[in-house]
Amino acid sequence: MQTRLLGQLSVEEFLRDYWQKKPLLIRQALPGFQPPLDINELAGLACEETVESRIVMEQGPEGPWQLFNGPFEESFLQELPSKDWTLLVQAVDQLLPEVAELLKDFDFLPRWRRDDIMISYAPPGGSVGPHIDYYDVFLLQASGQRRWQLGQFCDESTPLRQDTSLKILTDFQADPEADWVLEPGDLLYLPPQLAHWGTSLSEDCTTWSVGFRALSAEEILCGAADFVGEKLQEDQRYTDADLEPLQHPAEIDAAAVSRLRQLLLEVIDQPAAINEWFGRAMTQTKYPDQLLPPEEPWQPEDLQALVAEVDSGDASPLLRIAEGSRLAFRAGDEGRWLFADGEAWPYSEELQGWVEDLCRCYQLDAALITTALKHPEARDLLLQLINQGSIYAEQEEDSD
Ligand code: SIN
Ligand code: CO
Repeated sequence: MQTRLLGQLSVEEFLRDYWQKKPLLIRQALPGFQPPLDINELAGLACEETVESRIVMEQGPEGPWQLFNGPFEESFLQELPSKDWTLLVQAVDQLLPEVAELLKDFDFLPRWRRDDIMISYAPPGGSVGPHIDYYDVFLLQASGQRRWQLGQFCDESTPLRQDTSLKILTDFQADPEADWVLEPGDLLYLPPQLAHWGTSLSEDCTTWSVGFRALSAEEILCGAADFVGEKLQEDQRYTDADLEPLQHPAEIDAAAVSRLRQLLLEVIDQPAAINEWFGRAMTQTKYPDQLLPPEEPWQPEDLQALVAEVDSGDASPLLRIAEGSRLAFRAGDEGRWLFADGEAWPYSEELQGWVEDLCRCYQLDAALITTALKHPEARDLLLQLINQGSIYAEQEEDSD
């Protein structure tokens, strides 16, 4: 399998040799790449109340590697020095569909692993310092030049600077073999926990970071335990019908611990519930309250009306997957679920093709909606997705 992002490398080779293992530089992955937004537009986003943004200054007024959280006043941005700072704006793909376009090139990786596209701008010398991320990241040089230096793999015990709230490494062991200047269209893949340091070399350096998230073991344990726990009965308890005469009345003996472990493993190992929890967890929206449900819940008639418009040649794309929405499905021995933005709905085998088409598309075409109208189960799923804001109807331009 090939994808234009990886150059000569096949998807199979990338997954086998690089994914989660080692970095990869792909020169001119996107030759002629033209970012659809300029630096002023990016700065404009950083001034918006609902957008997550930050600035990192290498020598801030209050100390090294100072972090400022947005939203920012325009005047603050205008008064920034001419070098050594970075502006970072999160989830730009969820704000601008033209930025989200790039994600289509990443369909060789699970969509439910995606976090967002963060866009950074830095004048010369600007960087966020040497650090690691716990996410896989693809760094696309969108404009200008940035020098990337890669270092060692790190973990929780790797020392961090104490004089800043940012997690900056004290000891960055630069690898002389991995020191590159990226030009527009170049792409750098970094596996999690690999130290890296990207410094702007130009006035117009913008970098797009496509991040892939992974839950921590703690998030998995606590999340799954909470979900599975809710389904447990009061009478499922620690039991010790096999109790033997005691050595000491206060001792928790090996048999007690072993009974406990047995119970714990049995109650957590519920395949259907774990499937459901995982799908829900991986499709949670990035920000709470991100979806905008319609003012009036849709009824089947509203879908009929939409299709009728298309039949009469009146309308083109009808419904869109919301920009911040996450869809996934699971079809296995334990059952079939459609997941959208933290919700889960079981569906029948008959709907498998429809669910797959739905989860692949960005815009729902008339065929997908017409099929749904013929199957009450699909129709109800579609209405639920619309009514929770995961799918929305594009407003038609007012002609008068
Ligand atoms: C940046 O774009 O400046 C930072 C991206 C990163 O290092 O993760
Ligand atoms: Co990073």
